[in-house]
Amino acid sequence: MPIITDISKAVVLLKEGGIVAIPTETVYGLAGDALNIKAVAKIFAAKNRPSFDPLIVHVSGIEQAHSIAYLNELAIFLLEKFSPGPLTLVVPKKSVVPDLVTSGHPTVAIRIPNHPVALELLKESGLCIAAPSANPFGYTSPTTAAHVDEFLGSRIDAVLDGGACDVGIESTIIDLSGDTPKVLRLGGLPYEELTEVLGELPFQTSSSTPHAPGMLTSHYNPGISLRLFKSYSELLCEFNTTDTDRVGLLYSGKEIKANFAINLSREVVLVEIASKLFHALRSFDKTHIDVIWAHELPEVGLGMAINDRLRRAQS
Ligand code: TXA
Ligand code: MG
Repeated sequence: MPIITDISKAVVLLKEGGIVAIPTETVYGLAGDALNIKAVAKIFAAKNRPSFDPLIVHVSGIEQAHSIAYLNELAIFLLEKFSPGPLTLVVPKKSVVPDLVTSGHPTVAIRIPNHPVALELLKESGLCIAAPSANPFGYTSPTTAAHVDEFLGSRIDAVLDGGACDVGIESTIIDLSGDTPKVLRLGGLPYEELTEVLGELPFQTSSSTPHAPGMLTSHYNPGISLRLFKSYSELLCEFNTTDTDRVGLLYSGKEIKANFAINLSREVVLVEIASKLFHALRSFDKTHIDVIWAHELPEVGLGMAINDRLRRAQS
């Protein structure tokens, strides 16, 4: 499976019904033609993804979104305000969208990604592109072409390399199919930006429902157990008073001297932390540590989504 940079080559593969990992501003997605059932089936198979977990369909703009979904005024308003960007909307689907894409739900998740390569690919191909995160089911999402290659390389037709993803965590998902909008997943679009225009939003946080399996608690398994502290200072305090030879630290703040440590952001800048988080979690795999120690961040802005991912990575 080659890592490629030629967008036209990726377009050809997708039009032939192939599956290609593509960059987006959030994480890499495993792309296929959303209206081609065989391509969609290949996506599920490559990821080992259960068929009850529906896929996000990426479109080039609002006009293309109309071809697959019924958009009400609120949906159009939100797309105009926040797209292209890290926002996914769950809206009623049109019948052209195969049930396999939506796992039989009458709704479809749509997103306009804010990445020049993804947008160029969407425009050049004219396709609506189904793309879940390009990781095996249950594992951390990839933020570089090399991450994709490591776990899915042998199962897909190509990886289109567009560099490291800027945002680094998946899109925020809002369900607009009910009476009131609901948050299904916190993500790259900070919660407050949405509440500024929509007011406080209810969360559908239950991990028992298959409606949004991204909500499953074990969804971000980094492969090594992770202990989550309430704050940097709690982590530091425990670190200074315990035998920590085989502890890997994942923190943000003033430098801590340790055998295995990754400082995501000395100044605790949330966008910087989000963009480096998944890469950092993966890099501990190659060390000889027994456990990762990490800490929560303030529950504001991207901190909410980062804390959410860290909690899911706990074991
Ligand atoms: O940033 C992102 O959203 C990335 C990039 C590649 O776009 N994609 C991504 O896809 O994270 P995925 O498949 O890993 O997560 C999509 C989530 C899943 O939890 C799925 O259950 C939910 O979206 N979802 C998709 N369609 C849905 C629907 N019709 N109703 C409710 N949830 C849906
Ligand atoms: Mg995923």
